[in-house]
Amino acid sequence: MSCPSQWSEPIVQVQMLSEAENQVIPNRYIKPLTERPCITRSNDNLNIPVIDLFGLINGDNATQKAIMDEISIACREWGFFQVVNHGINDELVDEVREVWREFFHQPIEVKQEYANTPKTYEGYGSRIGIQKGAILDWSDYYFLNYLPSNLKDHKKWPSQPPFLRDTTEEYSKKIVKLGKIMLKVFSSNLGLQKDYLQNAFGGDDIGACLRVNIYPKCPQPDLTLGLSSHSDPGGMTFLLPDEHVSGLQVRKDGEWITVKPAPHAIIVNIGDQIQVLTNAIYKSVEHRVIVNPNKERVSLAYFFNPKSDVLIEPATELVTLKTPALYQPMTFDDYRRFIRIKGLHGKSQVDSLKSQR
Ligand code: OGA
Ligand code: NI
Repeated sequence: MSCPSQWSEPIVQVQMLSEAENQVIPNRYIKPLTERPCITRSNDNLNIPVIDLFGLINGDNATQKAIMDEISIACREWGFFQVVNHGINDELVDEVREVWREFFHQPIEVKQEYANTPKTYEGYGSRIGIQKGAILDWSDYYFLNYLPSNLKDHKKWPSQPPFLRDTTEEYSKKIVKLGKIMLKVFSSNLGLQKDYLQNAFGGDDIGACLRVNIYPKCPQPDLTLGLSSHSDPGGMTFLLPDEHVSGLQVRKDGEWITVKPAPHAIIVNIGDQIQVLTNAIYKSVEHRVIVNPNKERVSLAYFFNPKSDVLIEPATELVTLKTPALYQPMTFDDYRRFIRIKGLHGKSQVDSLKSQR
């Protein structure tokens, strides 16, 4: 099973559909009834936890411990939380989102110079999964590699607007720093050696890649989704949401909760690989994106992943007679290929890894 080098049918940019200002969306974007967004008002006041990281580096031992405990509870109970005072300054956070918004607002010819293929997905794209005739999501995106450094190629990043490469580079550096801190915190919280998860991810050779999503205005938001329900395949994700337009929903106890982002917060969530490594003590949580009739939304999802060729399996420290290994070992490369071919489908991928017993 390998990824083809071309798409099986012509690509339609959702931004173009949106700009055409038709009152109805094409059938290909209409989701089956059971997948369509429904607004459940009873959950309006629920939100994922907000955790202030200020004292994690600077605080005394007791403060550090209290913050680590908050993270531990959020990982076990939600798999999703937002962090503030995360070490990435407010200006940079706003700038990186706006510079990418500017990229998407350029003429189609400029963007198409970076059109992607299913081979690596790098560049400007409008679909995930290659199945001909599949129902599509109401979004376009740009995908790029940052780590390992041999995969980073600035020439594959947009050259316009002028500061995009520098700003993205600076933001990436900060995200990687935050990611390494989080891996340490998760390891300690699980009772593992501080460096356990970083080493399991491949030591210095971890992967980091960015998907910038644009969800254009949609005339019939009740019929479609910006991003179908999925769990993130990688290790963990750092999502910079659009502060002024909500859209991300997280599944909690069977209900969809709309995330209300705190100012300049970054959303952290557990991916499938950490679910496997922790033998499901931490779970990757299903999430999706709903769209809006009169506002577009831009978000940056930074995926922190294991090196592509190391085997990912439950930590032996977390496997006991009472809690036997739930998953068979698999490399992240093999795992990701599955998704790149099939597209996003809830949590079916991680469940398919379950050991036969
Ligand atoms: C993703 C994702 C959510 C969002 O890119 O995997 O879940 O709010 N994005 O854009
Ligand atoms: Ni996601």
